[in-house]
Amino acid sequence: MTHTGRHFLQIPGPTNVPDRVLKEIAQATIDHRGPEFADLGVEVLERLKGIFRTHGPVVVFPSSGTGAAEAALVNTLSPGDRILIFETGWFSHIAWKQVAERLGVNVEYVPGTWRRGASPETLEQRLKDDTARELKAVVVVHNETSTGVVSRIADLRRAMNRSGHPALLIVDAISSLASIDLRHDEWEIDVTVCGSQKGLMVPPGLGFNAVSEKALAANATSKLPKAYWNWEEMLKANKSGFFPYTPATNLLYGLREALRMLDEEGFDNVLQRHARHGDATRAAVRAWGLDIVPENPAEYSNSLTAVYTPEGHSADRLRQTILEHFDMSLGTGLGKLAGRVFRIGHLGSFNDLMLAGTLSGVEMGLALAGVPHKPGGVLAAMQSLTASTQKTEPASAAR
Ligand SMILES: Cc1ncc(COP(=O)(O)O)c(C=O)c1O
Repeated sequence: MTHTGRHFLQIPGPTNVPDRVLKEIAQATIDHRGPEFADLGVEVLERLKGIFRTHGPVVVFPSSGTGAAEAALVNTLSPGDRILIFETGWFSHIAWKQVAERLGVNVEYVPGTWRRGASPETLEQRLKDDTARELKAVVVVHNETSTGVVSRIADLRRAMNRSGHPALLIVDAISSLASIDLRHDEWEIDVTVCGSQKGLMVPPGLGFNAVSEKALAANATSKLPKAYWNWEEMLKANKSGFFPYTPATNLLYGLREALRMLDEEGFDNVLQRHARHGDATRAAVRAWGLDIVPENPAEYSNSLTAVYTPEGHSADRLRQTILEHFDMSLGTGLGKLAGRVFRIGHLGSFNDLMLAGTLSGVEMGLALAGVPHKPGGVLAAMQSLTASTQKTEPASAAR
């Protein structure tokens, strides 16, 4: 089938890259040890602090998110250290448990159903029970991209503080940063881990660690081997806008432009936009009569919605139908959700009509693939979008 117009990339990352960002990336590559590069480096490193809501350093690696996860662990831990990782879904397993175990870290994996976020009560109790203070870090995936369930980091931090336990808090914000509220300093996160390819609207290839004072102190005594991922050399070079090895120069051009765009829109507006799109998508799914993965409304994701297909109807067949007929990619079900779930990405460079188009593709696909559902999802989403537009309309426009 010949496809015309633009492909709809509605997986929950990599996300659509704005033309402004693509154009920047297309510039000639410059000398990464020359004066022009230093300006780029300084601006990007400074602007990143605003996005992570931190006054501390943000380290940028030429890597995917998994690399940034490895960096967070090797820079703060020593061989045999015990850490707590909450099972929230596929990514808590693949990007954290598996990586930590391969590095020789002793993982206590707190079981989860994949339908709820990390429990503050469980965390508090586990830390109180650890009277010997053996646990060195707690790892939580903020927005579990395989399920669309958000863990409440502020509540988890309060639980840690109540327990009085000194463990580090490491947060995976790979699919939440610049889409869902995340406050590195205020929530006393020690390492916030991210990648470029989701809310930041840049192609894959950059990994981030926002680092607290406490994490830097842990770095000074951590004994896991680190060379490429070493924060110390990075932070030294970053002071003047440079990197200890060849950075991903052109992706940094793209990142600078994306950060300027987020600034132009206003960070609160960015988060508000994602909230509206999350609400509208869930309104559509409810109208179709389908179920979403998260059980607790306080844990609904604003960056993606994971939807169950009814028993006996393959989510992958539905995705294939939609790709063939409408040239739209939706996220696949991962791990134990394979074939049972499809994921609608609504994060990054996105607007109301892109969402309406996305949901139209899903609704037509449901009909074509013979998946039982009620019509009217797109209409429900449009009504949700209109209602929230009216609510946020500035007074001058209403006159
Ligand atoms: C929450 C989360 N953690 C970790 C990863 C792994 O990141 P990457 O595939 O960039 O290595 C992803 C990727 O989608 C993710 O969504």
